[in-house]
This record gives sequence, structure tokens and C-alpha cells, in this order.
Amino acid sequence: MANLAQLVYNMPVTSLPFKKHSLLFAPMEGVTDAAYRIAISRAFPEWDYFSTDFYRVPTVGNIQKKAILNHYGHSALEKKNLASKTSYQILTSARAQTRDVVEIINSEGFEHLDLNLGCPSKKVNAHKGGAFLLSDIETLRPIIKTIRESFKRTFTVKIRIGYKDDNLFFDLLKMFEDEGVDAITLHARTRDQLYNGIADWSYIKKAVESTSIPVIGNGDIWTVQDIIRIYDECDPYAIMLGRGALKTPWLATTYYEHKNNPDFLSDEYLLEERKKGLDMYFYELEKEYRKENLPDINILKRFKSFSRYLFDDFEDHEVVRGRFLRSVHLDEFKSHLQKLI
Ligand SMILES: Cc1cc2nc3c(=O)[nH]c(=O)nc-3n(C[C@H](O)[C@H](O)[C@H](O)COP(=O)(O)O)c2cc1C
Repeated sequence: MANLAQLVYNMPVTSLPFKKHSLLFAPMEGVTDAAYRIAISRAFPEWDYFSTDFYRVPTVGNIQKKAILNHYGHSALEKKNLASKTSYQILTSARAQTRDVVEIINSEGFEHLDLNLGCPSKKVNAHKGGAFLLSDIETLRPIIKTIRESFKRTFTVKIRIGYKDDNLFFDLLKMFEDEGVDAITLHARTRDQLYNGIADWSYIKKAVESTSIPVIGNGDIWTVQDIIRIYDECDPYAIMLGRGALKTPWLATTYYEHKNNPDFLSDEYLLEERKKGLDMYFYELEKEYRKENLPDINILKRFKSFSRYLFDDFEDHEVVRGRFLRSVHLDEFKSHLQKLI
């Protein structure tokens, strides 16, 4: 059924560029740049969808088309298949030059624009961007309208359940629906909860039940069992994984292979799979970073920054992780990897 904005602006009733029950690799600043997305999509092609991390819409100065394309990454632009399953994420505020940026993203032919309304960063929120906007519907609505008017294809928002509390949760959902947003990704925490505790999936269920727009569930999905459970309990249209995908970048592969028989996934099997996955992960990442002429020291830095969760399931994981984090050269990191797997 067409919603209000589709009627008012004569917008087409867009269908989403990913199918029901897709697994989406979450946007992550400092992680999901073009090289990373290319490497993951090659190593673990079972991921259904990707996103850039957020491009911050400038408040002052000329809008540079080049900067917008650079943020997406030229190597990823060339990969048409990957581009067809990648959203472009922006972060903005009332004062920023949203329309100009969105018009460029639209005219460059990107299929999917996502607005980051979940960013908890103090600095971003102090400038009334990111999750702050969830506390101020009067300010947020015109931003949503501007994007909806200027972007002709899929437009989604990525939100939390609120800023300080959940008071506006249902009003926000209604506003997004009225203004013609195509889907809502919900990280089931408030901004003030940051990453504390465990995401409260009951909000995902409430959102699914109360809005006609597809809801993408997000927050603390770590295992195949979690994926099965969130679909069972909350019935989201699709799900998005952040830290779970950082811990197990091959999780989509495991899920699609074993979703009908999850009891098969013993700890021993998963550890063997982890060893193979780690090998593939770092191999494909290095290959892609080399294409971008990243020096060893920078590759090492990235590898270390990806090591936060990868080794959690190994015995003495603190010791294991410590070895990787103390590596001084890339070769040292790689030699620890070969010994571990
Ligand atoms: C390192 C890191 C960077 C992130 N950067 C972004 C970002 O650029 N845009 C965004 O919408 N969310 C970002 N997030 C939030 C994730 O996309 C996701 O919503 C959040 O981590 C909750 O999901 P999870 O429990 O699966 O990790 C980031 C999260 C992490 C851990």
C-alpha cells in the first residue's frame, strides 16, 4: 500500500534491494571501507548486503562530488555486483547541507541511501546529529522530507530505540512511515545505553508489529542460534550484524549451510571453521589492501583493530589476542596466525 509521501510526492512504491531474511553486514566506521567490503564479499559471498560507514554531511564549504565518491571508494564503484548490494550511509544534522549531498548521491546513480540516526558519539550528538535527532522529531521530520524528496530510490534509516529513553519510539516509527522511508534498521538500545547490557529485541518485535515498513533487526546477534531466535521471536524482515560479523566474518556462510540443523554446530566444529575462516579473512583483506598500496604497517594496524572479538573462542583467548596485538611487523602477525590455525 502506498504511504503518505508516496502519494504526496508521487514517489514510486520502492521495493527493497535485498530479499526477505537477508543477512546484512553492518556499517562500521574504521572497518567497512571499499577494500574491506570487497574482501569480505569475495571471501564470504553469502553476505546478502553491505553498507559504507557514514559520510558526514558538511555544514559549511562547497560540497565536493569527489569527496562523496571517495568515501564510497572507487575500487568498490567498479564492482557492479557488489555495488548493487551496498547502501551509501550519511550522517547529518539540521544545519548541514543535506539536500546538496543527497542530490549528488542521487544523480550519481546510487541505489540505496541510508541515514545514520544511531551514532552515539558525544561530538556528533553535541552538533545535534546522529542519535540526538531521535529526541527531536520536529527537527528530524524536515530532514527526512528533504532526503525523501531528493533521493528517488531506496531510502532507509538506521535508528536506536530512542535517545535518552524510549518515549518517542512509536512516534518516530509513525513519522518514518508517513514520510515514505522504505525500511528501518533498529539497533535495540537507546543512545544512552551505548553498547551496555544486551540489546532488547522486544523493541524489534514491537516495531515489526506496529509499522507497515520493513524492520531490520540489529543488536547482539552473534551466532547461528541468535539468527534463528531473532527471526522466531521478532519476525523482522531482515537482520543486520555488526560486532557479530566482526567476530565471525563467515557467519553468513555458516548460517546458510546449517540453519536447518544448528545442533550440528559443536564447539569443536566451530573452532575448526574459525581457523579456516581466519585464514581466508586475513588473506583476502591483505590482498585487497595491497591493491590499494597500503604499507605493511597500516595493514598491521587494521588487522589489530579487527582482532577485538576474533579470538574469543580460543582457549586462553586473552593470551592469544595479546600475541596478535603486540606484533610489531605484519609478518609477525601472520606467523602467529599460521601457528594458531
Ligand atoms: C567499530 C564500529 C563502528 C560502527 N560504525 C557505524 C557506522 O559508521 N554507522 C552506523 O550506522 N553504525 C555504526 N556502528 C553500529 C553498528 O552498525 C551496529 O548498529 C551496532 O554495533 C549494533 O549491532 P551489533 O550488536 O551487531 O554490533 C558501528 C559499530 C562498531 C562496533
